Amino acid sequence: MEIETHTHDVIVIGAGGAGLRAAIEASARGASVGLVCKSLLGKAHTVMAEGGVAAALANVDVKDDWKTHFHDTMHGGKMLNNWRMAQLHAQEAPDRVKELEHWGALFDRTKDGKIMQRAFGGHTWKRLAHVGDRTGLEMIRTLQDKGIHSGIDVYMECTITHLLKDGERISGAFGYWRESGRFVLFKTKAIILATGGVGKSYKVTSNSWEYTGDGQSLAYEAGADLIDMEFVQFHPTGMVWPPSVRGILVTEAVRGEGGILTNRNGERFMEKYDPERMELSTRDVVARSIYTEVMEGRGSPHGGAFLNIAHRGAEYVKKKLPSMYHQFMEFALIDITKEPMEVFPTTHYIIGGVRVDADTAGTTVPGLFAAGEVAGGMHGANRLGGNSLSDLLVFGMRAGMGAAQYANEVKGNALKIDDKDLELAAEEMLRPFESAEGENPYTIHQDLQEAMGKFVGVFRTKENLQEGLDELQVLKERASDLKIEGSRMFNPGWHLCKDLKSMLIVSEAIAKCALQREESRGAHSRVDFPKYNDEVWGKVNSVISQNSNGEMHLGTSPLPQMPEDLRKIVDGGYK
Ligand code: FUM
Repeated sequence: MEIETHTHDVIVIGAGGAGLRAAIEASARGASVGLVCKSLLGKAHTVMAEGGVAAALANVDVKDDWKTHFHDTMHGGKMLNNWRMAQLHAQEAPDRVKELEHWGALFDRTKDGKIMQRAFGGHTWKRLAHVGDRTGLEMIRTLQDKGIHSGIDVYMECTITHLLKDGERISGAFGYWRESGRFVLFKTKAIILATGGVGKSYKVTSNSWEYTGDGQSLAYEAGADLIDMEFVQFHPTGMVWPPSVRGILVTEAVRGEGGILTNRNGERFMEKYDPERMELSTRDVVARSIYTEVMEGRGSPHGGAFLNIAHRGAEYVKKKLPSMYHQFMEFALIDITKEPMEVFPTTHYIIGGVRVDADTAGTTVPGLFAAGEVAGGMHGANRLGGNSLSDLLVFGMRAGMGAAQYANEVKGNALKIDDKDLELAAEEMLRPFESAEGENPYTIHQDLQEAMGKFVGVFRTKENLQEGLDELQVLKERASDLKIEGSRMFNPGWHLCKDLKSMLIVSEAIAKCALQREESRGAHSRVDFPKYNDEVWGKVNSVISQNSNGEMHLGTSPLPQMPEDLRKIVDGGYK
């Protein structure tokens, strides 16, 4: 088969924060790197982590240190975290942030010229280094600038649809150019997945069109494990009004800067749910609290809660939260320096993901690495705000290091691409053009989003989840015959066919894991099992893999044993 081909030591799929940081590292270690992104370089969900990057710099609260950050992360994750990932993350985040500053990131400053830090839910100290409420954007700008001067080849608007292997090892990636629809092959020794999340499986989400679970499904189909997929983070505060902007993020920095949540009766309801931490409780708790207030009839006019920051004064709000000020002014004609916002939970982040080795970011498939949101383990059952940005810096760097080392080790071995695999991949991609009676992918996508919101949302029950899984089965069957009009030239409907397959895989994984875990823990709330079950479910990760018949296999694996010195840091109950 004639196909445009590029060859690199390392291919990074995804060009958000994790992908860029990984590419910079692999390149610095001598690997030839190709960075492939579905969208435009820099258009990434990283920018939706607005309020800050968590790192124990101790610039504002001098008592902060990596141990407290480790403690908070483990407690926030209800101890389901991979302890080694949480340890490396807490220890290395300060250096990764300082490194960004050396590369040109302009953080807000304290009076004595240090990087400014603010409060966020579940963090003991003011820990989030920030740039107003545009932290992710500044990080992407800096990484992009560094990246394009690091000798990396960037392939934009290119979607990878299949990973290719030589025996058990990764040997390439197959995809297509979004504009022309032409196929493209990347020959490589190592692949780093940095494709982000799965938000587009839900209707109300802070994610944009790119986030369709591509990396999770590519890894799954290549034979890697997915862990803890039941843990989907519903960010407590998404916009609710007007309908066209429903789900857009309202940064946690609003609460970090003193924002107050009230219901339609003017009650500061967090007093009921977490009187100690109030609005700065962890995201799982705040999301459930807002959801409960609305469901019990105490919601705002458009079905949310009120979030008020006006009491901090117009000058302060505009300085600390400039994007929020503009967002509400332009989308909702609301001046947040005078009036409250209306907010409701929005699907924001998948906490589970591809199972990786903490030190190298390697998956169970030789040559396949994963970092950032696509990887699982780091955040346990609930991610603390700001830990996503530090996660992608720490493990992006480690993935770049791991992949470059691996590529160096397999240097002598010429890896093969099987023509048959290419033909099968191309055939699968072209099928929707040949179908006579198939369904429109948009209709199925809509039905999928409805089903996930209805059956696999903030609160779950056995009956709901079972119904959700039955519905997913029907959707899978419908999606096995899709029909598309037009040509391969920029054809979003055609692109959705493959994205839909990925979303169906991750959605099934989420629902299956959620049904299996008969307890409530962090972001996973079972109405029929409202408590922690530390004896059974507190000791295991959920594991999804593909069996030899191509079916989804669900199981568990014991949590890795934590060393005694770390155990002492985290001992004591979590909320
Ligand atoms: O609310 C926020 O600014 C989001 C941060 C995050 O997801 O880490």
